[in-house]
This record gives sequence, C-alpha cells and structure tokens, in this order.
Amino acid sequence: MKVAVFSAKPYDKRFFDAALEEKKQQASASATTGNIELIYHDFALSEDTVFLAQGADAVCVFVNDGVPAAVVEALADEGVKAILLRCAGFNNVALDVAERRGLLVANVPSYSPEAVAEFAVTLIQTLNRNTHRAYNRVREGNFALDGLLGRTLHGKTVGIVGTGKIGVATGRILKGFGCRVLAADPYPSPAFADVGEYRTLDELLPECDIVSLHCPLMDATRHIINEATLAKMKPRAILVNTSRGALLDTRAVIKALKTKHLGGLALDVYEAEGSLFYDDHSGEIIQDDVLMRLMTFPNVVVCGHQAFFTEEALKEIAECTLRNLDEYAEKGTCANSLTDSIKKKGKGPLPVRNV
Ligand code: NAI
Repeated sequence: MKVAVFSAKPYDKRFFDAALEEKKQQASASATTGNIELIYHDFALSEDTVFLAQGADAVCVFVNDGVPAAVVEALADEGVKAILLRCAGFNNVALDVAERRGLLVANVPSYSPEAVAEFAVTLIQTLNRNTHRAYNRVREGNFALDGLLGRTLHGKTVGIVGTGKIGVATGRILKGFGCRVLAADPYPSPAFADVGEYRTLDELLPECDIVSLHCPLMDATRHIINEATLAKMKPRAILVNTSRGALLDTRAVIKALKTKHLGGLALDVYEAEGSLFYDDHSGEIIQDDVLMRLMTFPNVVVCGHQAFFTEEALKEIAECTLRNLDEYAEKGTCANSLTDSIKKKGKGPLPVRNV
C-alpha cells in the first residue's frame, strides 16, 4: 500500500513513522499495515501537484490541502482509492465527487478536543490580560502597566457557537473559571446540559462578553459572523475563532474593531490562510493586506492554526489515520468514512499492490 502524504512537515513524519513502526511491531499487525509505504511530500496537494499521487493507493492530506472536484477526479483517474484526512474538518474536499467516483474519504473525527478547547481558552486569556503585549514590553525593560488592563473572567458570560466535542470542552473549562456559559447550536447536545444553557444565536450575541466559535465551516455557517451579527454583539465583547477562518467576514470584523464596537479578536484560523500558514514567510513581503491590517491592532491576536498542535493530538492523528487505512483495506469500509455509500455498503477488500 503506497500512501502519498502531502503537506508533510518534520513533526508529521516523526509521528507517522513512529505510529507505523509501532504497528508493524505489534504481533497483531495486519498484512496491510506491514505493507504500508509512506511517501512524504512537504508541499500541498493541488491541481499542480496531484500527478505525484500516481501509483499511490491513498493520499493523506491536512487542512490546507486543496481537494476540489478537479483534484478528486484526477485522483480517481490515477487509481487512488482513498483520501485520508489527518484532521476533523473536511470543508476542503469535494465529498460529492468522491462519492460519485467511489473514493473513500475518512477523517480523524476526534484527536484531542481538549487540546483545541485549551487553546481557545489560552487565546481568550492572552487577549483579555494582554500577555502578548506584556511579553514584548518586559523584554525591552518596560514594566509599565498602562494599556495592559484586563477584565476578571469570573462572572462573565461566554457564548459558545457549536456545542460539539470542542465547544462542550471549551464550555466546561470556562465554567471552571466561574463564567456563565451560553451556547447556540441547531442540534443541542445532552453533553452541554451540565455546562450551560442554549439560546438562539440572535439571543446569545447581545448577552455575551466573549463569543467563541466551534461550529464547522459549511454553506450555512460561512460568514456567520458578519456586519449584522457583529452589530448584535455586546459592545467591547471579545471574539475568538479556533474553528475555520471563513466563519468570519474578516473585512466586517476589521470595521467593528476600528469603531471599537468589538473589544478584541483572537484567531487561530484565517479565511485566506492556505497560502501562508504552516510555512515561514518572515523574509518575504506578505501580500495579504487584510491579514496585515488585522495584525496592526493591539487587541488582535493571530496564531497560525496551531490549536490542535500537541504531542497527544499528533500521536492520535497518525494512529487513527493508519487505523482508517487498515480498516478500509481489510473490510472495504471504515467507521470514519465521510463518503456515505462506502460507509454503508463497503466495497470489499482492496487489492494490495506490491511495493
Ligand atoms: P463537532 O462535529 O463535534 O461539532 C460541531 C458542532 O457544530 C455540532 O454540534 C453542530 O451541530 C454544530 N453546528 C453546526 N452548524 C451550526 C450552526 N449553524 N451554528 C452553531 N452550531 C452549529 O466538531 P468539533 O470536533 O467540536 O470541531 C469543531 C470545529 O473545530 C471543526 O469543524 C474544525 O473546523 C475546528 N477544528 C479546529 C482545529 C484547530 O487546530 N484550530 C482542530 C480541530 C478542529
């Protein structure tokens, strides 16, 4: 089994090699796992690079690999049988085309919701207590406190938009801080019952001092934070997005920051992150004026999509991706399949190519 792994960074290779080695050493290792060859590419999958999947049984991709219809068609034409996402979100894959062409698309649905939730809370407190500014100041011998004034989190109202695994975990942590936790989700979760109360988004926004986004990116949630919803937010409230960049209309957010209606913004994701995040551009002139404008605000914190980035999460991502492949190769189906027809019916075992 050849797997072409795109956007592979040194840390991906380390955790994937270790997971593969461990699996191979297990007495119970299947014939498939024993035969897996991982071919790493440090650039993203795209229409320009898809030819490198030639001869592979599967491709393994991450959040900023582009897998639109044309790429899925090309993969299918090359005889690739599976697209293994080493993340939970799948907004970058043309699932309908994969379904039509009979390709498995499988994700890692839950590698460490707590890792992302803990990072969301880290961003809230960084922004709220200005530790990003204090860090730079103190290094220059400036110990003045002017401009670093924060607000006590205890007693504040926090709104969680999307109460899936990460949203509920974030709500639990904030409840521990003594916050009142509200949430909006069209599909309420029993797991949130102990944490707080549901509201509609329109009811939630004016009540909250902090709004944290944890819903997936879909047509219904694209620009869920826009000029109209920003206007409904409580003046000086903080907005946090660790989910997907396009949940925000970034230009509308910049306007709300300029009028000071929005009190602060913390982002781990950005609408046009694909061409920037996960690579070093420090020696270049960055052409994205929207992102660069955002980064001039003292009350904006931007991170490069790192909420998931813990040792525990990388280990689980590697192990679960290999489990998905193993399961698909053996049974022709996979519990984490996102392509419904393959999940339901299965396609029979994959023919194993000699490598
Ligand atoms: P999940 O699937 O467990 O939960 C998503 C929740 O959003 C569900 O309860 C769903 O009903 C809700 N939802 C759907 N439409 C909604 C709407 N219009 N308004 C409010 N809620 C809505 O997903 P999970 O694991 O909690 O992840 C959430 C998101 O976090 C992912 O979709 C992904 O985009 C992002 N993520 C970001 C990471 C990072 O490193 N920054 C890492 C992992 C995930």
